[in-house]
Amino acid sequence: MRHFIKLRDISSKNLKKIILDAKKRKGKRKNLNTLDIDKDCPLKGKLLIQMFEKSSLRTRLSFYIAIKQLNGGALTLRPDELHLGKGSESLEDTAKIISTFGNAFMLRTDSDQKLEEFKKYMTIPIINGLSPSSHPTQVLSDVFTIEEITKKSISKLQICWIGDGNNNVINSLIEASVKFSFKLNIGSPKKYQPNKNLLNWIKKNGGRVNIFNDCFKAVKSSDVIFTDKVISMNEKVNKVKKLKEFKNFKITSKVMSYAKKNAIFLHCLPRGSEVSDKVFLGKQSKVWQQALNRIYVQKSILLYCFEKLR
Ligand code: CP
Ligand code: NVA
Repeated sequence: MRHFIKLRDISSKNLKKIILDAKKRKGKRKNLNTLDIDKDCPLKGKLLIQMFEKSSLRTRLSFYIAIKQLNGGALTLRPDELHLGKGSESLEDTAKIISTFGNAFMLRTDSDQKLEEFKKYMTIPIINGLSPSSHPTQVLSDVFTIEEITKKSISKLQICWIGDGNNNVINSLIEASVKFSFKLNIGSPKKYQPNKNLLNWIKKNGGRVNIFNDCFKAVKSSDVIFTDKVISMNEKVNKVKKLKEFKNFKITSKVMSYAKKNAIFLHCLPRGSEVSDKVFLGKQSKVWQQALNRIYVQKSILLYCFEKLR
């Protein structure tokens, strides 16, 4: 049984297989409608149970459409409607019931420990749909989008992240930089540098990550510029203070002009004030394509979990 919890736990070979499968499947759907089913019906009769303890638009929609296109079905649980959410049923029993009724479980949660506990008791694959420490499905999809747009292997590109150096999305991007061997520049205020354990892991695994405290230096000559909200969901911080600390890390046209001429701008969404409207709605921005690609990559992640990747 294969779970999908952290990119670092999955081999480069399998991650690349997921990307390749997504590319092939997307290519075959040119004239199909959203809910038309892929010809090979690979997940016929399978049920994906998903639960969101935090808000979601894209992850929710993309997993629903993904499993449908593979000829399975989806059921979304509301945590406040479960006994678990009210403290009147154990996680162990909940996990066992989900495992016997469903075939895969996707969880978005505020607790990495909860993901691990579910994993302990589940007898079906579990997928991390965002946790405090990582957002692996998003970042794998972003690798797919970058290669689709640039038509190059990401290993040949310089990727740049501007923003909080220690949130779920950048953590997964750092892990991806090792798995896909790409150069990653991170531009963050000093106080918001990447997690030390992760930096040690990169060192041990030959990663190419450079950290800057100056937005322009980080962006210089990059092929892809990423950012994310300064304040993540449910983050308990002094919001006014944190936003102020990031005032020199906003992606504007001037910042973009330091990147390569044909550089692209990506953002997992939802957005805040970390990017100007001009950049976000401009030609270099590929955010809508990025969001829609989540469907194609979720499909291949599901197939990986079901051991059905060709
Ligand atoms: N990017 C992303 O995961 O979006 P949602 O929070 O809307 O699912
Ligand atoms: N870092 C953001 C990502 C949202 C998809 C958050 O956790 O809120």
